[in-house]
Amino acid sequence: MRSFFHVQDIGNLDEALKEALEVKKNPFAWKHLGTDKTIILVFFNNSLRTRLSSQKAALNLGMNPIVLNVNGDSWKLETEMGVVMDGDKSEHLREAIPVIGSFCDIIGVRSFAGLTDREKDYGEEILRQFIEYSGRPVISLESATVHPCQAFADLITIEEHKEKKRPKVVMTWAPHPRALPQAVPNSFAEWMNAADVDFVITHPEGYELDPRFVGDAKVEYNQMKAFEGADFIYAKNWSCPGVSNPADYGKILSKDMGWTVDAKHMAVTNNAQFLHCLPVRRNMIVSDEVIDSPRSLVIPEAANRVVSAQVVMKRMLESL
Ligand code: CP
Repeated sequence: MRSFFHVQDIGNLDEALKEALEVKKNPFAWKHLGTDKTIILVFFNNSLRTRLSSQKAALNLGMNPIVLNVNGDSWKLETEMGVVMDGDKSEHLREAIPVIGSFCDIIGVRSFAGLTDREKDYGEEILRQFIEYSGRPVISLESATVHPCQAFADLITIEEHKEKKRPKVVMTWAPHPRALPQAVPNSFAEWMNAADVDFVITHPEGYELDPRFVGDAKVEYNQMKAFEGADFIYAKNWSCPGVSNPADYGKILSKDMGWTVDAKHMAVTNNAQFLHCLPVRRNMIVSDEVIDSPRSLVIPEAANRVVSAQVVMKRMLESL
C-alpha cells in the first residue's frame, strides 16, 4: 500500500475487517515487520487520539515513531508555491518533505482544511505534496477532506457491535460553536457506502456533503424521521461544504440545538448504539445521558484507532 487516503486504498473490506480483528487479538504478532523501520508523524494541527494511537500502532509493529509538531517544535513551513518568503515561515514544504522522507520509511500527515478556499482544500494540496515529494508511503491522519484511519476504526466498531447482519447506520449533523472541517463525515460516508449497511445521512438544508462522498446514501432532512429504527447513530458537526452555494464554504449556517442528540432522539431508534469520533462537545453534539449510557461506544471506538492504524502500517511495511 503506497498511500492511505480513500476506502479503495484498503482493498476488500471483509478481508480488512478480518485482518483488523486478528491484529486486535494479537497486536504484537507482526513486531518483526517494523524492526529498524521509522515512521514520522507530521502534525500541522492538534490531536489526542490520532497522535497516541499512531504511535502505539507503530510500537506494536516494532517501528520507531517520531512526532513532528509543525509550527510548534519545527520551523514554520510555507505550503504555497511561488510566494516570496519574507514572512514568519522559514522553510518551504518543497525542501522539508524530501528531508523528512530521507529520515523514515513511512510518513503520516495531519493537515486540516483551511475552510476559506474550497478548491484548495478539496485539492488536498498539502497531502498531495507529501505523496509527490517524500518518496515514502503516506497515511492521511486527517487531511483537508478525509480521515480514513477514523472511518476504518468506526467500521471495525460497527462490525464488532452490530446485532443484525445489515444494520441501519445514521450519520447526523449536530451543532458546534466553531466551524469544523468535513473530513470526518466525508470519510464516514465513503466507508459506510462501501460497507454492508443501510446508510442514511441527516442534516439541516445547506449542509449537503460533496456528492463524491455521499454516493448512493439516502439523505433525509427530517432528523427524527432519519433516526427511526436506527441501529447506530453517528453524530458529527461539520461546516458548510459549499456544494449548493460555494460562497458559504466553511461557514456555520446553523447552531440549532434541536439537532443535539438526546434521549428523545434515541427513543425512536432501534435501541441504537451511539458513536462519535471524539473530541466531543457535551450537550452541544450529544447530551450527557446519551454519551454516558451503556449504548455509547465512544471509548471502544477510540480504542479501535490503534487497530485501524496498525492494519494500515502493517500493510505498508509488508509492501516496502
Ligand atoms: N478523532 C480524532 O481524530 O481525534 P484527535 O483529533 O484527538 O486525533
